[in-house]
Amino acid sequence: MAATDLERISNAEPEPRSLSLGGHVGFDSLPDQLVSKSVSQGFSFNILCVGETGIGKSTLMNTLFNTTFETEEASHHEECVRLRPQTYDLQESNVHLKLTIVDAVGFGDQINKDDSYRPIVDYIDAQFENYLQEELKIRRSLFDYHDTRIHVCLYFITPTGHSLKSLDLVTMKKLDSKVNIIPIIAKADTISKSELHKFKIKIMGELVSNGVQIYQFPTDDEAVAEINAVMNAHLPFAVVGSTEEVKVGNKLVRARQYPWGVVQVENENHCDFVKLREMLIRVNMEDLREQTHSRHYELYRRCKLEEMGFQDSDGDSQPFSLQETYEAKRKEFLSELQRKEEEMRQMFVNKVKETELELKEKERELHEKFEHLKRIHQEEKRKVEEKRRELEEETKAFNCRKAAMEALQSQALHATSQQPLRKDKDKKKF
Ligand code: GTP
Ligand code: MG
Repeated sequence: MAATDLERISNAEPEPRSLSLGGHVGFDSLPDQLVSKSVSQGFSFNILCVGETGIGKSTLMNTLFNTTFETEEASHHEECVRLRPQTYDLQESNVHLKLTIVDAVGFGDQINKDDSYRPIVDYIDAQFENYLQEELKIRRSLFDYHDTRIHVCLYFITPTGHSLKSLDLVTMKKLDSKVNIIPIIAKADTISKSELHKFKIKIMGELVSNGVQIYQFPTDDEAVAEINAVMNAHLPFAVVGSTEEVKVGNKLVRARQYPWGVVQVENENHCDFVKLREMLIRVNMEDLREQTHSRHYELYRRCKLEEMGFQDSDGDSQPFSLQETYEAKRKEFLSELQRKEEEMRQMFVNKVKETELELKEKERELHEKFEHLKRIHQEEKRKVEEKRRELEEETKAFNCRKAAMEALQSQALHATSQQPLRKDKDKKKF
Protein backbone atom coordinates (compact mmCIF):
# COMPACT_ATOMS: atom_id res chain seq x y z
CA MET A 1 0.00 0.00 0.00
CA ALA A 2 1.35 3.48 -0.88
CA ALA A 3 2.27 5.85 1.97
CA THR A 4 -0.35 8.44 0.89
CA ASP A 5 -3.12 5.78 1.03
CA LEU A 6 -2.07 4.89 4.57
CA GLU A 7 -2.08 8.55 5.56
CA ARG A 8 -5.56 8.97 4.13
CA ILE A 9 -6.87 6.00 6.11
CA SER A 10 -5.35 7.24 9.37
CA ASN A 11 -6.75 10.77 8.78
CA ALA A 12 -10.29 9.55 7.96
CA GLU A 13 -12.90 10.57 10.52
CA PRO A 14 -14.65 7.68 12.33
CA GLU A 15 -18.32 7.14 11.34
CA PRO A 16 -20.66 8.57 14.07
CA ARG A 17 -22.71 5.91 15.88
CA SER A 18 -26.45 6.33 16.42
CA LEU A 19 -27.52 6.09 20.07
CA SER A 20 -30.96 6.33 21.62
CA LEU A 21 -31.64 8.63 24.57
CA GLY A 22 -33.00 7.39 27.86
CA GLY A 23 -35.27 10.42 28.33
CA HIS A 24 -35.89 14.04 27.32
CA VAL A 25 -32.63 16.02 27.19
CA GLY A 26 -33.83 19.29 25.68
CA PHE A 27 -31.80 19.96 22.55
CA ASP A 28 -35.01 19.67 20.56
CA SER A 29 -35.51 23.29 21.63
CA LEU A 30 -32.64 24.42 19.40
CA PRO A 31 -34.95 25.58 16.57
CA ASP A 32 -36.94 27.66 19.09
CA GLN A 33 -33.71 29.14 20.45
CA LEU A 34 -32.73 30.09 16.90
CA VAL A 35 -36.11 31.71 16.25
CA SER A 36 -36.04 33.74 19.44
CA LYS A 37 -32.45 34.87 18.77
CA SER A 38 -33.29 35.93 15.20
CA VAL A 39 -36.43 37.75 16.32
CA SER A 40 -34.59 39.71 18.99
CA GLN A 41 -31.85 40.54 16.50
CA GLY A 42 -34.28 41.74 13.80
CA PHE A 43 -33.93 41.29 10.06
CA SER A 44 -32.75 43.37 7.18
CA PHE A 45 -34.06 43.17 3.66
CA ASN A 46 -32.85 45.24 0.75
CA ILE A 47 -34.76 45.72 -2.48
CA LEU A 48 -33.35 47.30 -5.61
CA CYS A 49 -35.93 48.77 -8.01
CA VAL A 50 -34.76 49.09 -11.59
CA GLY A 51 -37.11 50.51 -14.18
CA GLU A 52 -37.63 53.61 -16.23
CA THR A 53 -38.74 56.87 -14.63
CA GLY A 54 -42.44 56.91 -13.77
CA ILE A 55 -43.00 53.18 -14.38
CA GLY A 56 -44.65 52.79 -10.96
CA LYS A 57 -41.76 51.72 -8.68
CA SER A 58 -42.69 53.83 -5.66
CA THR A 59 -46.40 53.04 -5.98
CA LEU A 60 -45.66 49.30 -6.04
CA MET A 61 -43.41 49.54 -2.95
CA ASN A 62 -46.12 51.44 -1.10
CA THR A 63 -48.69 48.84 -2.17
CA LEU A 64 -46.45 45.89 -1.23
CA PHE A 65 -45.71 47.10 2.29
CA ASN A 66 -49.08 48.81 2.74
CA THR A 67 -47.53 52.07 3.85
CA THR A 68 -46.31 55.34 2.37
CA PHE A 69 -42.57 55.59 1.95
CA GLU A 70 -41.40 59.14 1.46
CA THR A 71 -40.08 59.39 -2.08
CA GLU A 72 -39.60 62.19 -4.51
CA GLU A 73 -40.44 61.96 -8.19
CA ALA A 74 -37.41 61.72 -10.45
CA SER A 75 -36.98 64.11 -13.34
CA HIS A 76 -36.37 62.87 -16.86
CA HIS A 77 -33.23 65.00 -17.12
CA GLU A 78 -30.71 63.10 -15.00
CA GLU A 79 -27.28 63.09 -16.67
CA CYS A 80 -26.61 59.53 -15.57
CA VAL A 81 -28.17 56.76 -13.51
CA ARG A 82 -27.89 57.40 -9.77
CA LEU A 83 -28.66 54.97 -6.94
CA ARG A 84 -30.77 56.34 -4.08
CA PRO A 85 -31.05 54.09 -1.01
CA GLN A 86 -33.59 54.81 1.71
CA THR A 87 -33.86 52.76 4.89
CA TYR A 88 -36.99 52.32 7.00
CA ASP A 89 -37.69 50.51 10.26
CA LEU A 90 -40.86 48.46 10.00
CA GLN A 91 -42.53 46.28 12.59
CA GLU A 92 -45.15 43.57 12.22
CA SER A 93 -46.18 41.68 15.40
CA ASN A 94 -42.88 41.43 17.27
CA VAL A 95 -40.71 41.18 14.14
CA HIS A 96 -38.52 44.16 13.27
CA LEU A 97 -37.52 44.63 9.66
CA LYS A 98 -34.91 47.11 8.53
CA LEU A 99 -36.03 47.63 4.95
CA THR A 100 -33.85 49.43 2.42
CA ILE A 101 -35.35 50.41 -0.91
CA VAL A 102 -32.80 51.43 -3.51
CA ASP A 103 -34.08 53.33 -6.52
CA ALA A 104 -32.12 53.45 -9.77
CA VAL A 105 -32.98 57.10 -10.46
CA GLY A 106 -32.85 58.25 -14.09
CA PHE A 107 -32.67 54.73 -15.53
CA GLY A 108 -33.40 54.78 -19.27
CA ASP A 109 -33.50 58.58 -19.54
CA GLN A 110 -30.13 59.18 -21.17
CA ILE A 111 -29.65 59.38 -24.95
CA ASN A 112 -26.63 57.11 -24.72
CA LYS A 113 -27.65 54.16 -22.57
CA ASP A 114 -24.48 52.09 -23.08
CA ASP A 115 -23.31 52.54 -19.50
CA SER A 116 -26.69 52.69 -17.73
CA TYR A 117 -26.07 49.36 -16.00
CA ARG A 118 -22.66 50.35 -14.62
CA PRO A 119 -23.73 52.49 -11.60
CA ILE A 120 -26.11 49.67 -10.59
CA VAL A 121 -23.38 47.01 -10.82
CA ASP A 122 -20.97 49.30 -8.95
CA TYR A 123 -23.51 49.89 -6.19
CA ILE A 124 -24.14 46.16 -5.70
CA ASP A 125 -20.39 45.45 -5.66
CA ALA A 126 -19.77 48.28 -3.19
CA GLN A 127 -22.21 46.67 -0.72
CA PHE A 128 -20.44 43.29 -1.12
CA GLU A 129 -17.11 45.04 -0.62
CA ASN A 130 -18.32 46.70 2.60
CA TYR A 131 -19.42 43.34 3.94
CA LEU A 132 -16.12 41.69 2.94
CA GLN A 133 -14.14 44.48 4.63
CA GLU A 134 -16.16 43.94 7.80
CA GLU A 135 -15.49 40.19 7.62
CA LEU A 136 -11.74 40.76 7.16
CA LYS A 137 -11.46 43.15 10.12
CA ILE A 138 -9.62 41.82 13.16
CA ARG A 139 -12.37 43.15 15.38
CA ARG A 140 -15.40 42.47 13.26
CA SER A 141 -18.95 42.99 14.42
CA LEU A 142 -21.10 41.15 11.93
CA PHE A 143 -23.70 40.62 14.65
CA ASP A 144 -24.91 44.23 14.62
CA TYR A 145 -23.56 45.09 11.16
CA HIS A 146 -26.16 46.79 8.95
CA ASP A 147 -26.12 44.48 5.96
CA THR A 148 -26.78 46.57 2.86
CA ARG A 149 -26.25 43.80 0.31
CA ILE A 150 -29.07 43.75 -2.23
CA HIS A 151 -31.30 40.72 -1.66
CA VAL A 152 -33.57 41.17 -4.65
CA CYS A 153 -33.76 43.27 -7.77
CA LEU A 154 -37.28 43.96 -8.99
CA TYR A 155 -36.82 44.66 -12.68
CA PHE A 156 -39.77 46.71 -13.99
CA ILE A 157 -40.55 45.89 -17.61
CA THR A 158 -42.49 48.49 -19.61
CA PRO A 159 -45.84 47.02 -20.77
CA THR A 160 -45.25 47.49 -24.49
CA GLY A 161 -46.63 44.07 -25.49
CA HIS A 162 -43.79 43.83 -28.01
CA SER A 163 -40.51 42.53 -26.62
CA LEU A 164 -37.79 43.44 -24.18
CA LYS A 165 -35.63 46.43 -25.02
CA SER A 166 -31.91 45.84 -25.49
CA LEU A 167 -31.35 47.99 -22.39
CA ASP A 168 -33.41 45.49 -20.36
CA LEU A 169 -31.50 42.50 -21.68
CA VAL A 170 -28.06 44.08 -21.25
CA THR A 171 -28.84 45.29 -17.72
CA MET A 172 -30.33 41.99 -16.55
CA LYS A 173 -27.40 40.07 -18.07
CA LYS A 174 -24.91 42.27 -16.21
CA LEU A 175 -26.81 41.85 -12.94
CA ASP A 176 -27.75 38.20 -12.98
CA SER A 177 -24.56 36.90 -11.34
CA LYS A 178 -24.71 39.55 -8.63
CA VAL A 179 -28.31 39.67 -7.48
CA ASN A 180 -31.58 37.72 -7.48
CA ILE A 181 -33.61 39.21 -10.31
CA ILE A 182 -37.42 39.04 -10.31
CA PRO A 183 -38.76 40.51 -13.54
CA ILE A 184 -42.19 42.15 -13.34
CA ILE A 185 -44.39 43.71 -15.98
CA ALA A 186 -45.37 47.10 -14.55
CA LYS A 187 -48.70 48.90 -15.07
CA ALA A 188 -50.21 45.63 -16.27
CA ASP A 189 -53.65 47.27 -16.39
CA THR A 190 -52.57 49.00 -19.60
CA ILE A 191 -52.27 45.77 -21.57
CA SER A 192 -55.07 43.39 -22.61
CA LYS A 193 -55.34 39.85 -21.23
CA SER A 194 -54.46 38.06 -24.48
CA GLU A 195 -51.59 40.44 -25.24
CA LEU A 196 -50.26 39.98 -21.72
CA HIS A 197 -50.19 36.20 -22.13
CA LYS A 198 -48.19 36.46 -25.38
CA PHE A 199 -45.96 39.16 -23.87
CA LYS A 200 -45.04 36.93 -20.92
CA ILE A 201 -44.10 34.04 -23.24
CA LYS A 202 -42.05 36.38 -25.43
CA ILE A 203 -40.17 37.83 -22.45
CA MET A 204 -39.31 34.42 -21.02
CA GLY A 205 -38.16 33.24 -24.46
CA GLU A 206 -35.91 36.26 -24.85
CA LEU A 207 -34.44 35.85 -21.37
CA VAL A 208 -33.64 32.20 -22.07
CA SER A 209 -32.18 32.81 -25.53
CA ASN A 210 -29.96 35.57 -24.15
CA GLY A 211 -28.80 33.43 -21.23
CA VAL A 212 -30.22 35.73 -18.54
CA GLN A 213 -30.56 33.86 -15.24
CA ILE A 214 -33.52 35.15 -13.27
CA TYR A 215 -34.30 34.08 -9.70
CA GLN A 216 -36.19 30.80 -9.50
CA PHE A 217 -38.35 30.22 -6.45
CA PRO A 218 -36.74 27.22 -4.72
CA THR A 219 -38.38 23.83 -5.04
CA ASP A 220 -36.11 21.85 -2.72
CA ASP A 221 -38.08 22.57 0.44
CA GLU A 222 -41.09 20.24 0.46
CA ALA A 223 -43.26 22.72 2.34
CA VAL A 224 -43.15 25.29 -0.46
CA ALA A 225 -41.97 23.24 -3.45
CA GLU A 226 -45.40 22.96 -5.02
CA ILE A 227 -46.45 26.60 -4.74
CA ASN A 228 -43.00 27.78 -5.84
CA ALA A 229 -43.03 25.51 -8.90
CA VAL A 230 -46.46 26.87 -9.90
CA MET A 231 -45.30 30.45 -9.38
CA ASN A 232 -42.12 29.93 -11.41
CA ALA A 233 -44.40 29.24 -14.36
CA HIS A 234 -46.18 32.58 -13.85
CA LEU A 235 -43.03 34.70 -14.22
CA PRO A 236 -42.76 37.54 -15.07
CA PHE A 237 -45.50 38.75 -12.74
CA ALA A 238 -47.81 41.34 -14.23
CA VAL A 239 -48.50 43.84 -11.47
CA VAL A 240 -50.66 46.85 -10.77
CA GLY A 241 -49.92 49.24 -7.96
CA SER A 242 -52.24 51.61 -6.14
CA THR A 243 -52.70 52.95 -2.66
CA GLU A 244 -56.11 54.39 -3.48
CA GLU A 245 -59.04 52.67 -1.79
CA VAL A 246 -62.20 52.09 -3.82
CA LYS A 247 -65.50 50.68 -2.60
CA VAL A 248 -66.30 47.38 -4.35
CA GLY A 249 -69.54 45.82 -3.12
CA ASN A 250 -69.48 46.69 0.55
CA LYS A 251 -65.70 46.43 0.92
CA LEU A 252 -62.94 49.00 0.54
CA VAL A 253 -60.18 47.57 -1.65
CA ARG A 254 -56.97 48.97 -3.11
CA ALA A 255 -57.67 49.58 -6.75
CA ARG A 256 -57.31 51.86 -9.75
CA GLN A 257 -60.57 53.33 -10.89
CA TYR A 258 -61.22 54.08 -14.55
CA PRO A 259 -64.32 55.43 -16.33
CA TRP A 260 -64.98 51.90 -17.64
CA GLY A 261 -64.27 49.94 -14.45
CA VAL A 262 -62.09 49.18 -11.47
CA VAL A 263 -58.78 47.27 -11.46
CA GLN A 264 -58.38 45.61 -8.09
CA VAL A 265 -54.77 45.26 -7.02
CA GLU A 266 -55.38 42.20 -4.87
CA ASN A 267 -57.73 40.43 -7.26
CA GLU A 268 -55.84 37.55 -8.88
CA ASN A 269 -58.09 37.74 -11.93
CA HIS A 270 -56.94 41.31 -12.50
CA CYS A 271 -53.18 41.05 -11.93
CA ASP A 272 -50.34 39.09 -10.28
CA PHE A 273 -49.76 41.50 -7.38
CA VAL A 274 -50.79 38.94 -4.76
CA LYS A 275 -48.49 36.34 -6.32
CA LEU A 276 -45.58 38.77 -6.15
CA ARG A 277 -46.28 39.70 -2.53
CA GLU A 278 -46.68 36.05 -1.60
CA MET A 279 -43.45 34.98 -3.27
CA LEU A 280 -41.33 37.99 -2.33
CA ILE A 281 -42.40 38.57 1.25
CA ARG A 282 -44.40 35.68 2.66
CA VAL A 283 -42.67 32.61 1.23
CA ASN A 284 -39.20 33.35 -0.11
CA MET A 285 -37.81 36.38 1.73
CA GLU A 286 -35.42 34.19 3.73
CA ASP A 287 -34.36 32.26 0.63
CA LEU A 288 -33.57 35.54 -1.14
CA ARG A 289 -31.40 36.60 1.82
CA GLU A 290 -29.75 33.21 1.92
CA GLN A 291 -29.09 33.07 -1.86
CA THR A 292 -27.56 36.54 -1.67
CA HIS A 293 -25.11 35.36 0.96
CA SER A 294 -24.33 31.85 -0.24
CA ARG A 295 -24.36 32.43 -3.99
CA HIS A 296 -23.83 36.02 -5.03
CA TYR A 297 -21.70 37.25 -2.14
CA GLU A 298 -19.71 34.00 -2.14
CA LEU A 299 -18.89 34.51 -5.83
CA TYR A 300 -17.81 38.11 -5.20
CA ARG A 301 -15.71 37.07 -2.19
CA ARG A 302 -14.05 34.21 -4.08
CA CYS A 303 -13.11 36.40 -7.06
CA LYS A 304 -11.86 39.15 -4.77
CA LEU A 305 -9.71 36.83 -2.64
CA GLU A 306 -8.33 35.07 -5.74
CA GLU A 307 -7.50 38.49 -7.17
CA MET A 308 -5.57 39.17 -3.96
CA GLY A 309 -3.58 35.96 -4.48
CA PHE A 310 -5.31 33.66 -2.00
CA GLN A 311 -6.24 30.14 -3.06
CA ASP A 312 -7.53 26.95 -1.51
CA SER A 313 -5.39 23.82 -1.51
CA ASP A 314 -6.69 20.96 -3.60
CA GLY A 315 -6.67 17.56 -1.87
CA ASP A 316 -3.15 16.37 -2.80
CA SER A 317 -1.11 19.54 -2.81
CA GLN A 318 0.49 21.28 0.18
CA PRO A 319 -2.01 22.96 2.49
CA PHE A 320 -2.49 26.58 1.69
CA SER A 321 -0.59 28.89 4.01
CA LEU A 322 -2.01 32.34 4.66
CA GLN A 323 1.39 33.49 5.97
CA GLU A 324 3.23 32.40 2.79
CA THR A 325 0.63 33.95 0.49
CA TYR A 326 0.84 37.15 2.48
CA GLU A 327 4.66 37.18 2.30
CA ALA A 328 4.63 36.44 -1.44
CA LYS A 329 2.06 39.16 -2.06
CA ARG A 330 4.03 41.58 0.11
CA LYS A 331 7.22 40.90 -1.85
CA GLU A 332 5.36 41.27 -5.13
CA PHE A 333 3.87 44.52 -3.91
CA LEU A 334 7.23 45.90 -2.70
CA SER A 335 9.02 45.05 -5.96
CA GLU A 336 6.14 46.62 -7.91
CA LEU A 337 6.41 49.68 -5.68
CA GLN A 338 10.16 49.85 -6.29
CA ARG A 339 9.66 49.51 -10.04
CA LYS A 340 7.05 52.27 -9.98
CA GLU A 341 9.38 54.48 -7.87
CA GLU A 342 12.25 53.96 -10.33
CA GLU A 343 9.90 54.70 -13.22
CA MET A 344 8.72 57.90 -11.54
CA ARG A 345 12.29 58.95 -10.74
CA GLN A 346 13.31 58.42 -14.37
CA MET A 347 10.27 60.34 -15.52
CA PHE A 348 11.17 63.17 -13.16
CA VAL A 349 14.79 63.31 -14.42
CA ASN A 350 13.59 63.36 -18.03
CA LYS A 351 11.11 66.07 -17.23
CA VAL A 352 13.80 68.19 -15.54
CA LYS A 353 16.10 67.75 -18.56
CA GLU A 354 13.33 68.70 -20.93
CA THR A 355 12.49 71.77 -18.87
CA GLU A 356 16.16 72.73 -18.69
CA LEU A 357 16.45 72.52 -22.48
CA GLU A 358 13.29 74.53 -22.91
CA LEU A 359 14.60 77.19 -20.50
CA LYS A 360 17.93 77.38 -22.32
CA GLU A 361 16.15 77.78 -25.64
CA LYS A 362 13.99 80.54 -24.13
CA GLU A 363 17.12 82.27 -22.74
CA ARG A 364 18.80 82.14 -26.16
CA GLU A 365 15.70 83.60 -27.80
CA LEU A 366 15.56 86.37 -25.21
CA HIS A 367 19.22 87.16 -25.70
CA GLU A 368 18.73 87.41 -29.47
CA LYS A 369 15.74 89.67 -28.95
CA PHE A 370 17.77 91.85 -26.61
CA GLU A 371 20.65 92.13 -29.13
CA HIS A 372 18.22 93.03 -31.88
CA LEU A 373 16.58 95.71 -29.75
CA LYS A 374 19.98 97.03 -28.76
CA ARG A 375 20.96 97.39 -32.42
CA ILE A 376 17.73 99.18 -33.21
CA HIS A 377 18.27 101.47 -30.26
CA GLN A 378 21.84 102.34 -31.33
CA GLU A 379 20.71 103.07 -34.89
CA GLU A 380 17.95 105.34 -33.56
CA LYS A 381 20.46 107.08 -31.29
CA ARG A 382 22.84 107.63 -34.19
CA LYS A 383 20.03 109.12 -36.31
CA VAL A 384 18.95 111.44 -33.50
CA GLU A 385 22.58 112.53 -33.01
CA GLU A 386 22.91 113.33 -36.73
CA LYS A 387 19.64 115.29 -36.67
CA ARG A 388 20.89 117.22 -33.65
CA ARG A 389 24.13 118.13 -35.43
CA GLU A 390 22.25 119.25 -38.54
CA LEU A 391 19.97 121.36 -36.42
CA GLU A 392 22.92 122.96 -34.61
CA GLU A 393 24.56 123.80 -37.94
CA GLU A 394 21.30 125.22 -39.22
CA THR A 395 20.96 127.29 -36.05
CA LYS A 396 24.54 128.54 -36.42
CA ALA A 397 23.97 129.47 -40.08
CA PHE A 398 20.72 131.14 -39.13
CA ASN A 399 22.43 133.13 -36.39
CA CYS A 400 25.14 134.24 -38.87
CA ARG A 401 22.53 135.31 -41.35
CA LYS A 402 20.66 137.09 -38.59
CA ALA A 403 23.77 138.96 -37.47
CA ALA A 404 24.52 139.98 -41.07
CA MET A 405 20.97 141.20 -41.52
CA GLU A 406 21.13 143.18 -38.34
CA ALA A 407 24.41 144.78 -39.43
CA LEU A 408 22.92 145.69 -42.77
CA GLN A 409 19.84 147.08 -41.12
CA SER A 410 21.86 149.27 -38.75
CA GLN A 411 24.01 150.53 -41.65
CA ALA A 412 20.85 151.37 -43.60
CA LEU A 413 19.40 153.15 -40.60
CA HIS A 414 22.60 155.13 -40.12
CA ALA A 415 22.58 156.18 -43.77
CA THR A 416 18.98 157.40 -43.70
CA SER A 417 19.56 159.43 -40.53
CA GLN A 418 22.55 161.30 -42.26
CA GLN A 419 20.56 162.34 -45.39
CA PRO A 420 18.27 165.21 -43.94
CA LEU A 421 21.35 166.84 -42.32
CA ARG A 422 23.04 167.11 -45.67
CA LYS A 423 19.83 168.59 -47.25
CA ASP A 424 19.75 171.27 -44.54
CA LYS A 425 23.38 172.16 -45.15
CA ASP A 426 22.67 172.42 -48.92
CA LYS A 427 19.66 174.75 -48.26
CA LYS A 428 21.83 177.08 -46.11
CA LYS A 429 24.39 177.40 -48.92
CA PHE A 430 21.76 179.04 -51.18
P1 GTP B 1 -39.94 57.80 -10.39
O1 GTP B 1 -39.55 57.48 -9.00
O2 GTP B 1 -40.20 59.27 -10.61
O3 GTP B 1 -39.06 57.20 -11.42
O4 GTP B 1 -41.38 57.15 -10.67
P2 GTP B 1 -41.89 55.73 -10.16
O5 GTP B 1 -41.36 54.68 -11.03
O6 GTP B 1 -41.66 55.62 -8.72
O7 GTP B 1 -43.45 55.85 -10.48
P3 GTP B 1 -44.60 56.27 -9.49
O8 GTP B 1 -44.90 55.20 -8.52
O9 GTP B 1 -44.30 57.62 -8.93
O10 GTP B 1 -45.82 56.34 -10.49
C1 GTP B 1 -45.85 57.21 -11.61
C2 GTP B 1 -47.26 57.33 -12.12
O11 GTP B 1 -47.72 56.05 -12.57
C3 GTP B 1 -48.25 57.77 -11.07
O12 GTP B 1 -49.18 58.64 -11.68
C4 GTP B 1 -48.95 56.50 -10.63
O13 GTP B 1 -50.27 56.71 -10.19
C5 GTP B 1 -48.94 55.70 -11.93
N1 GTP B 1 -48.97 54.28 -11.67
C6 GTP B 1 -48.29 53.61 -10.71
N2 GTP B 1 -48.57 52.31 -10.77
C7 GTP B 1 -49.44 52.14 -11.80
C8 GTP B 1 -50.09 51.01 -12.36
O14 GTP B 1 -49.94 49.89 -11.94
N3 GTP B 1 -50.91 51.24 -13.43
C9 GTP B 1 -51.11 52.47 -13.95
N4 GTP B 1 -51.93 52.60 -14.98
N5 GTP B 1 -50.51 53.54 -13.45
C10 GTP B 1 -49.69 53.39 -12.38
MG1 MG C 1 -40.42 56.75 -7.42
